[in-house]
Order: sequence, then C-alpha cells, then structure tokens
Amino acid sequence: MRMIEELATIEQQAQQELAQAQSLEDLTQWKTTYLGKAGALTRLSRGLGGLPAEERPVVGQRVNQARTTLDTAFQDAEARIKYATLQASLETDRIDVTLPGRVSDIGRLHPTTQVLRTVSSIFNEMGFQVWESREVETDEYNFGLLNFPPDHPARDMQDTFYVETPPEAPKLVLRTHTSPGQIHAMRRYAPEPVRVLLPGKCYRNEQVTARSEIMFHQFEFLAVGRNITMGDLKGTLKTFAEHMFGKGTRVRLRASYFPFTEPSAEMDVSCFLCQGKGCRVCKYAGWLEIGGCGMVHPNVLRNGGYDPDEFSGFAGGFGPERIAMMRYGIEDIRWFYSGDVRFINQF
Ligand code: DAH
Repeated sequence: MRMIEELATIEQQAQQELAQAQSLEDLTQWKTTYLGKAGALTRLSRGLGGLPAEERPVVGQRVNQARTTLDTAFQDAEARIKYATLQASLETDRIDVTLPGRVSDIGRLHPTTQVLRTVSSIFNEMGFQVWESREVETDEYNFGLLNFPPDHPARDMQDTFYVETPPEAPKLVLRTHTSPGQIHAMRRYAPEPVRVLLPGKCYRNEQVTARSEIMFHQFEFLAVGRNITMGDLKGTLKTFAEHMFGKGTRVRLRASYFPFTEPSAEMDVSCFLCQGKGCRVCKYAGWLEIGGCGMVHPNVLRNGGYDPDEFSGFAGGFGPERIAMMRYGIEDIRWFYSGDVRFINQF
C-alpha cells in the first residue's frame, strides 16, 4: 500500500499548488507536472504492473479517481483565474462615462467650392444650367476651335501641359481654360439657344507664385441665341456682381483681346470693401479685376454649329480663387491646395 500513500501525498501537494496558482502560465506548468504524459500520475500508473495482482485493481481505481479529482480541480482553478484576470482588466480599463465625448472633425467646404456654389446659384437664377466638361482636351478644342491662330503664344509648351500620345493620334492637353466647354455645349444644343455655366479645374505649366498655381479653377458662362447683344452681357455681369459682391456694385468693361470673342473685354467691379474710394484690397484703384468676357466670335459660333448671321452670343471666364482671395483677403493662392485644414477651417 506504499503506492496509495504516495498517491495521497501527490494529490495533496497538487491541490496545494493549484490553490496558489495565480496565472494561466502557472496552470500550464501545473498540468505538465501532475497530469501530463511525463507527469506524476502517469509515472505512478506505470508502476501498477509491479504490484501483486490482487492489489492492482484497488490501486488502479485510486489512480483514476485521483486523476478525475485533479482534472475537476484544474477546471475550477482555471475558471477562478480567468475571472480574476477579467476583474483586474475591468479595473484597469475602466471608462469614465461621465467624461465629455470627443468631437470629431466634420470638415468644411473649401473656399473655392463656396464661391462656385454661390456663382452657380446666381447663374441658375438667370437660366444657366451647370455643365461639367472634360479636363483632358484635344489641342483642337482647347485652341483650334476657339479661333486661336496656329502660332498663338498660348499654345507654347511653356503654358500647356501636353499629354503623351502616339505621333499619329490627336494631340491631347490638360485644358488651360474652361472655354473649350463652350464648343461642347454649342455642339450639343445647336441650333437651339443655349445658356450654360461651366465650372472646373484648369492647368497651366507656369511658375508657381503667390498669384499663380499650376492648377486652378475657372467658371465659364455662355449664352447663344437670336438677338443677344453686348447689353445682355453687361446686364448679366451687373446682376452677377451685385449678387456676388453686394448691392450697388458697379461694373466696368475695358477693351481687351481674346481670340474667341469680338469685341473682347476685361470686367472690373467697384471695390466691395471701399465702394470705389480706394483701399488696400483694390490697391487704391477703386476697382477690382474679375476676368475676361466678350461677344462670341463668328468663327467660334460656326465651329459650335450656329450660323453667325442668325445667332449671336456672349461668354466669359472668371477665376473663383481670385474672387475668394479678394473676398476673404487671402494673399497667396498656394494656400488653396496646400492640404492644410487650418487654412480651410477659417472660411
Ligand atoms: N479663357 C480665358 C482665359 O483663360 C478667359 C475668357 C475670356 C473666357 C473671355 C471667355 C471670354 O469666355 O469670353 O483667360
């Protein structure tokens, strides 16, 4: 019966150690020591063969009993330790539900977007529909159909980003202005009258400075119909200026040149800050330059599918960044696409 005593000792020791186990690692260690393949109980049952035949069943049964008891004790200990670990983590990961929540940044409309939305709603009210036209254009649409002479300096490599194309394919460019959208819109509607606003991105291969970026926006407006006159252009501009810059804003046209308009003009508005008296924003001129406009050139009307003897039209192209810069007193165009939300959040 020496074995039964030994068994009792092992069992007692095992129970003690189990009661002291603090971690799952302790448990694993314990299991190897007592119940594992090379553990104490296994070692003991190997000795059964050396016992007298009549003792073997009794001792064998005791060994099995011990195994069952220790197995159950192990499961209890495991449950106890898992529960204690959970309790401890509840304590350390404690959440203070009374703390105020973190406010997430919901972003803000970019100043360019804000200006373009205002512009769209003003032109919408005058019956212009908003059209988005492509940013990659053929050289033909960007220049040729807009009546640029073949040797016009604007076609120069310096100003235009060309897209690489096979030599026999039509030349592609990133549009340098929104004006090619005029041709697309006319070809879509001719010979019906058309009124469109074409906002979007433009690209110029220029030195980046406080005044000019390689990517910027324009919005083009175009009206084609019968008996459209320069008076209609001026009335449209006046309405636009008063809605954009405030009631009483005056509009001035200065003679200019663009290949696609004849006559062509630069449009100025009276300074919205000083009402024309002279201030820092208008550099004491009293006027602010907004952009180009004019009466659509007969060649351009023809390229768009209209008979210039029957139809006439006006058009213009302005820069929303420029308007935003004046409106908000932004001094450097490079801020617009710097990707810094601290800039955007100010408007
Ligand atoms: N496309 C011209 C530019 O990029 C702006 C412009 C001038 C557009 C006169 C027009 C226009 O439609 O009539 O500078």
